[in-house]
Amino acid sequence: MTELERVQQLMDKYAARNYAPLPVNIVEAQGCWVWTEPGRQDAHKYLDCLSSYGALNQGYNHPRIVGAALRQIATGVTVTSRAFLNSPMADLCQLLSQVCGKEKVLLMNTGAEAVESAIKVARKWGYKVKGVADNQAKIIISADNFHGRTIAIVGFSTEAQYRDGFGPFAPGFEIIPYGDIKALKNAIDENTVAFMTEPGQGEAGVIFPPEGFLKQAYNVCKDNNVLFIADCIQSGFGRTGKMFACDWENVTPDMYILAKAMGGGYPISAVVADDNVMSVLKPGDHGSTFGGNPFCSAVALEAIKVVIDEKLPENSQKMGQYFLEELRKIKSPYVKEYRGKGLWIGIELTEKAGGARRFCEKLQKEHHILCKETHHHIIRIAPPLIITKQEVDWAITGFKAVLSA
Ligand SMILES: Cc1ncc(COP(=O)(O)O)c(C=O)c1O
Repeated sequence: MTELERVQQLMDKYAARNYAPLPVNIVEAQGCWVWTEPGRQDAHKYLDCLSSYGALNQGYNHPRIVGAALRQIATGVTVTSRAFLNSPMADLCQLLSQVCGKEKVLLMNTGAEAVESAIKVARKWGYKVKGVADNQAKIIISADNFHGRTIAIVGFSTEAQYRDGFGPFAPGFEIIPYGDIKALKNAIDENTVAFMTEPGQGEAGVIFPPEGFLKQAYNVCKDNNVLFIADCIQSGFGRTGKMFACDWENVTPDMYILAKAMGGGYPISAVVADDNVMSVLKPGDHGSTFGGNPFCSAVALEAIKVVIDEKLPENSQKMGQYFLEELRKIKSPYVKEYRGKGLWIGIELTEKAGGARRFCEKLQKEHHILCKETHHHIIRIAPPLIITKQEVDWAITGFKAVLSA
């Protein structure tokens, strides 16, 4: 029995079936590449064009990030709980505050937790600062959103499968079409505390709002004393070719929600906002045992510095543009549209293509490229932002073979 077969058997028998993974068992990784057998032989080597949905912008096994992790482990201090202080957390809060141009940072562990935390802060701000009547707070959300998998969050998903069988859901959310400024204006009322949106929708298939929308939405929110919350979990830390996707329109949201690449491969997330918003939280209002733990804080501190020092947003912009240009040269009967910003690219397939899954399987089996379909008919390409032109060229050969066939 191969190791892959052994793992598949164990997964079938013991793991909850909440995912449908490709038959690829990753055992080693470096930069943009992973291996499915120990020993790093070419026969078992794959180019990762998913980066754990954008959690590995710095690439696998980055020496600076690994170094930070090992140094922190060597101190013996990986978790202190928030009952005590720890140095990495303090340093990370300072860095994130500077990077975002905001005053206060709330650290959590996963993306969904940060989204939940942002919702709590926004509601409390609504009651304590804006003066919304008790239990009346409304948050406006975009259709086709993906903000995570908790009960509150799937409650405002427009994806039937994400909700099916999980009700009842929390009230207080109103859905508007993505990128629709008129709908946003119409939805705002005296109880509206926030508009939460992704500045680019990854799970929906790498979709961007009309140009100018983010700026207009920010202004509409400002005029109506409504918080503009940007979920930058997947689009952040250089993915679109800017540090944050809102930077494309020079918008600084009232609240940033960050995760994934913030930790360079380790689980940590954050809500970042100014003090007039964040100060609604008092000791005891909110918390998490592992939130702000020194291990992930030390790692994230280095991971964010790597994004800045290695100019990953710039490389994302340059390589993303090149990747997209090269893809667009592929004339394919199966492709409806190639689109993207930075190294965040979606290939939308036509109906007759028969779904994106078979293309991803072919890319994996025949060309050693790892991608994952999103929404049945879209191939998402999101490699680590350290990818080189040679690696993009290598990938293009595989895409050409699969899409032209
Ligand atoms: C935009 C966005 N928000 C929230 C989440 C949820 O993050 P997590 O899976 O860490 O809970 C994701 C994950 O894909 C995401 O892409």
